[in-house]
Amino acid sequence: MGNTVLTRGAAASQNTKNGVKKSADIYAIALDGPSGAGKSTVAKLVAKTLNITYLDTGALYRTLGYVCLKNGVNVNDGGAVEQCIKDVGVNIVYHDGVQSVIADGEDVSSKIRTPEVSMAASAVSAIPFVRQKLLGLQRGIAEQSSVILDGRDIGTVVLPNAEYKFFLTASADERARRRFDELTAKGQAVTYEAVLSDVITRDRNDSTRAIAPLKRAADAMEIMSDDMTAQEVADYICAAVNGD
Ligand code: DC
Repeated sequence: MGNTVLTRGAAASQNTKNGVKKSADIYAIALDGPSGAGKSTVAKLVAKTLNITYLDTGALYRTLGYVCLKNGVNVNDGGAVEQCIKDVGVNIVYHDGVQSVIADGEDVSSKIRTPEVSMAASAVSAIPFVRQKLLGLQRGIAEQSSVILDGRDIGTVVLPNAEYKFFLTASADERARRRFDELTAKGQAVTYEAVLSDVITRDRNDSTRAIAPLKRAADAMEIMSDDMTAQEVADYICAAVNGD
């Protein structure tokens, strides 16, 4: 693990209660951090190892951003966004542990991974109505079974009482490189410079917005992942949850 773990928060001491592991109970893992830190890759690995549900909350914001773009709505116009999405039914469906997002009956899962939708998601996620609309859905899933949720405000707002909280980050250069590799592997025509610029813009949007900004919860463990593989980060989280 080297010196990659910068901060150890109070979550670490909550792994056991009276010396008894809590793994038999329902528990929640909050995994927050900026875009491109590898949260979804790590969360999938953790969910598989611990046999718990994974919820990619960014996909929910992406879905509402996508719906706005599809309807030609200006994603920076709070009133117009609210009007556009207020009656849209958003649902999560799992097939073999893989999450799909359904918006008014349309499976949008493969349509929400473009740079345009990333920026739209970042814009609409600053609108209080949007955050409120998605809050109950996220909490409802966390009530049903043990979960790992990845996002920006899971440890601070969505699940402030989550048993385990982690804040996964990496330098902007490293995150842009990972995102660039991911997009080009999917055949998308992007330049590294454009991806880096998007990462920096989204960091600024996500951490400076008035409502539920991207922020490490005081009791979250911070993991700086520049020199770690996703598997190493996942192993670290699983070990913390298992009280190893
Ligand atoms: O994790 P992601 O890149 O798929 O998220 C897309 C956008 O959604 C991100 O720029 C900020 C927003 N988001 C948020 O505000 N809160 C969350 N819990 C998850 C994502």
